[in-house]
This record gives sequence, C-alpha cells and structure tokens, in this order.
Amino acid sequence: VVGMWILAFYVLGTVAGKEVCYQRLGCFTDDPPWSGVPGRLLTGLPDSPEHMNITFSLYTRETGNNSQVISAINSSTIQKSHFSSRRNTSFIIHGFGSTGKKGWVVEMCLLLLEVENINCIAVDWTQGANGTYISAVNNIRVIGAEVAYFIKTLQKIFRYSPHEIHLIGHSLGAHTAGEAGRRIQGIRRITGLDPAGPYFEGTPPEVRLDPSDADFVDVIHSNAAHLPAIGLGMYNTTGHLDFYPNGGTVMPGCTDLMPEMKQNATIIGGCHHSRSHEFYFESILYPTGYLGYPCETYKSFESGDCFPCSQQGCPMMGHYADRFPAKLKRVNQKYFLNTAADPPFATWRQKVFVKLSGVKKMKGDINLVFHDTEGKTKEYEIASGVLSQDQVYTKYLDVEINPKNTKKIEFLWNKTIFTLLWARLGAETVNIIHGEDGHAVTVDYSTHPLGLGPGLLDVFYNRRNIG
Ligand SMILES: *[C@@H]1O[C@H](CO)[C@@H](O)[C@H](O)[C@H]1NC(C)=O
Ligand SMILES: *[C@@H]1O[C@H](CO)[C@@H](O)[C@H](O)[C@H]1NC(C)=O
Ligand SMILES: *[C@@H]1O[C@H](CO)[C@@H](O)[C@H](O)[C@H]1NC(C)=O
Ligand SMILES: *[C@@H]1O[C@H](CO)[C@@H](O)[C@H](O)[C@H]1NC(C)=O
Ligand SMILES: *[C@@H]1O[C@H](CO)[C@@H](O)[C@H](O)[C@H]1NC(C)=O
Ligand SMILES: *[C@@H]1O[C@H](CO)[C@@H](O)[C@H](O)[C@H]1NC(C)=O
Ligand SMILES: *[C@@H]1O[C@H](CO)[C@@H](O)[C@H](O)[C@H]1NC(C)=O
Ligand SMILES: *[C@@H]1O[C@H](CO)[C@@H](O)[C@H](O)[C@H]1NC(C)=O
Repeated sequence: VVGMWILAFYVLGTVAGKEVCYQRLGCFTDDPPWSGVPGRLLTGLPDSPEHMNITFSLYTRETGNNSQVISAINSSTIQKSHFSSRRNTSFIIHGFGSTGKKGWVVEMCLLLLEVENINCIAVDWTQGANGTYISAVNNIRVIGAEVAYFIKTLQKIFRYSPHEIHLIGHSLGAHTAGEAGRRIQGIRRITGLDPAGPYFEGTPPEVRLDPSDADFVDVIHSNAAHLPAIGLGMYNTTGHLDFYPNGGTVMPGCTDLMPEMKQNATIIGGCHHSRSHEFYFESILYPTGYLGYPCETYKSFESGDCFPCSQQGCPMMGHYADRFPAKLKRVNQKYFLNTAADPPFATWRQKVFVKLSGVKKMKGDINLVFHDTEGKTKEYEIASGVLSQDQVYTKYLDVEINPKNTKKIEFLWNKTIFTLLWARLGAETVNIIHGEDGHAVTVDYSTHPLGLGPGLLDVFYNRRNIG
C-alpha cells in the first residue's frame, strides 16, 4: 500500500519530501541533495531493483565469453561459479540507453582478462537505463546500492576486501560507481569514463562521482559540457587524476555533430562520449601511447607549456593510471594529451628541433614521416614558408608511432625553385625529445644510428618538383 501511495506521488510529479524503500537496499528520498539543488532541480525516485532486472555476469579466464550470471540474493550462485576470492575483481557499468549484456562492456571484460587474471563482472541495468534520461539518473542510486550490496556479500562469504575491487563506469555508470563507493569504504579504484554531466555538474559530492568514493579515482573526460559547447560529460574535475584528451570536449575522428540532450539512445551514445571507453580499451594495449601532461588549460598544453614531463613523470591515461607514483598527492589534478582520430588512438608527443644548413633563405616546407616495422605515419609539418639557415624550427608533434619502435624518420620537402640550391640544403641538427615511460629523453637524430647519420643530404630528398 505504501508503495502504491508513493507511486501515485511519483506519477503526479510532486517533488519534495518523498521516499521509497526497497528491501535489502534501504530507503531513497528526493530530499536535497538528491533534488532541489543547483544542477538538479527536478528529479524523482528510483525504480525497484526487480523492475530493472539488474544482472551481474561473471567473466573469468575459465568462462571466456560464456559468462555466468551470479547474484548476491542467492550467494550460492557465486560460490558455485568461477568467481575466485584470490583474484582482484573489476565491475564494468554501462550508462544511459546502453547494455551490459553485449558490446563494449563485454569486450572490455574479455580484453582485461587477457592481461590480468581477474573476476570481471559486467553489470547490466538495461531496463533501468532505457526510459527517460531523468528516470535513469534516479535509477543509478539503486544500481549503486545493488553493486554495494554485492560487494558486502563478497565480504561476508569470502572476507573479500574492497581493496581488491576496481569499478569502471561510463557516463551514468561512472556516477553509479561513485554511489557504490560512497556506500562501501576502501574500494581500491574507481575509473569514471566521461561521467555524465547533466544533473551532475556542480552538484554536491554525495550525488556524483568524487575522489572520496574510492582510494583512487581516475577520470577520462571526452565530451565535457563547457559553454558554449553542449556535451554529455562533466567538465569539472571529479577525481584524483582527471584526463582531458584533445581538450576533453570534442574528439577527432567523430563526424557527428555535438550530441544534444535528446532522449534518444543513439544520440546519447554519441561518438565523443563513447571515445572515453574506447580510449580506456586501447590504453590496455598501448599504455605509453596515452601519457597525460599536467597543465592548467588545454590551450597552454597545445602551445607546448607542459612538455616534457617533470622528474616525477607523467601518468598514463586509462588502465595504467594507477601506476603513477604521485597519483594521490592531491585531488583534481588535470592532465592533457592529444589522441589520433582512429583506433588505437595512441600517440607519443615529441618536440622536434631542426636546424638547417646550406642555403641562407629558401621557400618551401619540411615535413617528417615516422616509420616502424609495420608502416609509416602521415606527414607532420615542421615548417613552411621562408626557411632560414639561422633558425631552429621547433614543433610539438603527437606521433602515432612509439619512438621505441621508430626505425626511420623521413624528411620530406617541397622544392620550389632553385633546384640546385635546394640540393645543398640539409639539416645541421635534428633533435627530438620524447617522454619514455613518462620521462624526457632527447635523441639527436643527426648522429643517431636510426638512420640519419652525418651525411644529412641523403635523408633530405626531393619530394615534389613544383618549380
Ligand atoms: C532478467 O535478466 C536475466 C538474466 O540476464 C534474463 O534471463 C531474464 O530474461 C531477464 N528478465 C526480463 C524480464 O527481461
Ligand atoms: C562474445 O559473445 C557475444 C555473443 O554472446 C558476441 O557478440 C561477441 O562477439 C563475443 N566476443 C568475442 C570477443 O568473442
Ligand atoms: C540458488 O542458486 C542455486 C544454483 O546455484 C539454485 O540451485 C537454487 O535453487 C537457488 N535458490 C533460490 C532460493 O533461488
Ligand atoms: C590486484 O591488483 C593490484 C593493483 O593492480 C596488484 O598490485 C595485485 O597484485 C593484484 N592482486 C592479485 C591477486 O592479482
Ligand atoms: C525497456 O525495456 C523493457 C524490456 O525490454 C521494455 O519492457 C520496456 O518497455 C522498455 N522501456 C522503454 C521506456 O522503452
Ligand atoms: C568545480 O570544482 C571546484 C573544486 O571542486 C569547485 O570549487 C567548483 O565550484 C566546481 N564548479 C562547478 C561548475 O561545479
Ligand atoms: C534517434 O537518432 C537516430 C540517429 O540520429 C535517428 O535515426 C532516430 O530517428 C532518432 N529517434 C528519435 C526518436 O528521435
Ligand atoms: C608542399 O606540398 C604540400 C602537399 O602538396 C602542400 O600542401 C604545401 O602547401 C606545399 N608547400 C609549399 C611551400 O609549396
């Protein structure tokens, strides 16, 4: 009867002072800060766990792709499964309009299992996530409570420690992980993949993912709402380490328009927003291709201010962010990086210096192409226009080949006129600084065995004969 009374209020849409209670999980009110605070004036109450049919699917090295559904309500399902209390456990939590039964959530578990012997649990709450965005915002409180209940059950039956748990959530799933972490102290790590912005940006920490939700919280912002742009993610920092790839708002390679706040799952699953979990996935395979540089703003990063990494190194965005020694030094540390437009998205930032020799002044341009055993990159422009012998040309490049695997660097130029003079142009010095495992390494390619050698004229060759 009470339930129906509450439901009646919910349907009528009154907002203040209501409460709903669910066995096992406790009560949920819509008192502040859950509604009626700046950033979330109007909300409602979460649906019941039964209504949402929340499912935990276990993936281990034994199960492979044939996951086992386990439940904290009937803990014998956990004991009879391949869950091992001797391993760490990761929970992967999807967001609005998505699913945990297939797609990126499952692929993430399968890839994690290739590099770590863990219990990977795909959390599915499809039926709580397929209504309106606002209903999903309310529902994550129950999903977070269910995840917490599951962890408490593990504690009870195995004396399992929260310190062996990593929660990874995308969009609303990131705040779901935060809610679970608020309810269970001592979770080792929460990774927020573009935590949802609408109804969370600017709200009190209880409501959203924040650094107090786990021992370590790392965040990737890929569609951060930042006026005048419209985004699905949060702009503000919300972890210990907050990464803003490509500035955090618009991702290269995404051709769709900035997704608008429409209640349309295909738009909500927009390319920019999804990049956060794609980056995380690829970071498992290319850890050093995701170094983040500490900077105050993206503009400052773009101009080269925060390169190379300091003595303490730089964190790797994504899976290996927890390897950063200074990760807990303070909360809300901002890191910037650029990615490529296509998978695997990894790039290695390098600062290139070229000093020319030969002619005094010449019109043309200099480009670099990096080669490894598998192929070569696009051309990166170092300088164009009037080139002068006295000047050192400097450029920051985000190169799609790991400097460790670089076999050859090719110099290309456009020949304009005075072909004979061009033939006498070379590079006196070529230096490249790159961050190796986070530390700056300077390589002098003019004498480096990787190819250029002292006879620099060989490496400069004519590309196009414009003149
Ligand atoms: C609830 O989830 C379970 C496990 O995935 C599934 O077998 C069942 O069909 C779902 N129930 C509904 C009503 O969708
Ligand atoms: C895992 O199984 C699902 C169907 O259950 C399939 O769609 C997916 O491609 C499989 N993934 C891998 C990596 O085999
Ligand atoms: C609990 O799960 C086991 C399978 O692990 C099943 O045999 C049993 O019937 C379940 N109990 C209840 C009450 O659902
Ligand atoms: C659990 O994860 C931590 C951090 O990655 C690692 O140091 C530890 O060895 C892992 N434990 C097991 C049993 O694999
Ligand atoms: C959500 O999914 C369930 C099960 O597939 C369906 O019964 C329900 O109508 C869906 N809700 C909406 C709002 O689409
Ligand atoms: C962003 O975070 C800072 C520090 O936590 C806080 O002072 C500020 O009010 C936040 N801004 C918004 C818009 O949430
Ligand atoms: C949702 O977005 C897709 C792709 O943009 C579009 O085809 C579809 O018509 C939209 N649906 C609604 C209900 O707006
Ligand atoms: C060199 O060639 C490239 C590619 O054709 C072109 O974009 C660039 O403008 C040329 N530079 C000069 C200085 O002609």
